[in-house]
Amino acid sequence: MGLLGKIFYIREKGNNFKRSKKWEGELNKCIRCGYCYELCPLFKTNNWESDTPRGKLLLIYGMITGEIEPTQGIVDKIFQCFYCKNCSDNCSAGVPVTDILTDARADLIEAGFEVEGTIVKVDEDLCSVCGVCVPVCKYEALSIEEKGKDQHEIIVDKVECRGCGLCVSACPSGAISQKDGCEITLPELHMKVSNLLKENKDMKAIVFCCNWSLFPGMQLSESPTLVKTPYGLIVSMCSGRVAPELVLNAFEEGAWGVMVAGCPPEECDHDGNYKTRRRLVLLKNVLKELNIEPERIKLDWFSTGESAKLSKAIDDFVKKLEKLGPIKKMEASKKFGG
Ligand code: FES
Repeated sequence: MGLLGKIFYIREKGNNFKRSKKWEGELNKCIRCGYCYELCPLFKTNNWESDTPRGKLLLIYGMITGEIEPTQGIVDKIFQCFYCKNCSDNCSAGVPVTDILTDARADLIEAGFEVEGTIVKVDEDLCSVCGVCVPVCKYEALSIEEKGKDQHEIIVDKVECRGCGLCVSACPSGAISQKDGCEITLPELHMKVSNLLKENKDMKAIVFCCNWSLFPGMQLSESPTLVKTPYGLIVSMCSGRVAPELVLNAFEEGAWGVMVAGCPPEECDHDGNYKTRRRLVLLKNVLKELNIEPERIKLDWFSTGESAKLSKAIDDFVKKLEKLGPIKKMEASKKFGG
């Protein structure tokens, strides 16, 4: 269906954003105060008003009242969200932002729009339909469906996908990906690690911090990456998103240590922290094999609001690294990294 066809469908054929329309009263409650975007990782990455939760609400309001025509660009914005709910939790008017977004997504998919945003996609040529990704997703956004006789495929529920990327890290054949542009893909995260270490020669540690374990100062920062020499902090959507190669990459680029700050057991929004714990235990064993001190990798849990505890834990980790000094066995590590 072409763009004009979609607009015609939405306006004339009765789609009329039936799910989103029920939120008209809530949408009218938004007073544009801006508290919603102070902790929005997408806004801090892209810096457009249309990336703020209040900007998205305005777009949805415009679409349901017919004042704004849904374009592919607008649809992409609606599908860019990690559902961290910092916006809903901070909204001074109590607007259920993410619930409204979910209904708008369902309406736009029903209208036939191609959607991408932060949603994962599966490359059929690479996918062996092993099914590893299916139980990884707490939101049941992935399923194995029959495609034909004796043939199956992985289907992504684009309304339910939260864009956390845990399935991307779990896929053994690299068949699942997300589009670049929101600083969440593996190449983008690798680039962040590299740049932090190249541009800050005194940097000792890279800290991957779950978006839910709010770091002090994050609210006022303009970016989801903070440089606090002697460490750099990269916000990830869940500790489960920190792939082993990211940690090894940080060591290869010169980090003395890597810390992962995640949500406590039972509090992880994606059930990814247990996987992180298993992964990091294995990685520590790999370091031992390479004659590198395993304590250069640290995993710790922090609830939302425990930012002082997080800050102290990072300081303690850096002090420990300063005692250990730089890694002397990087040649072996490089061999491992290939
Ligand atoms: Fe925080 Fe998973 S959401 S570790």
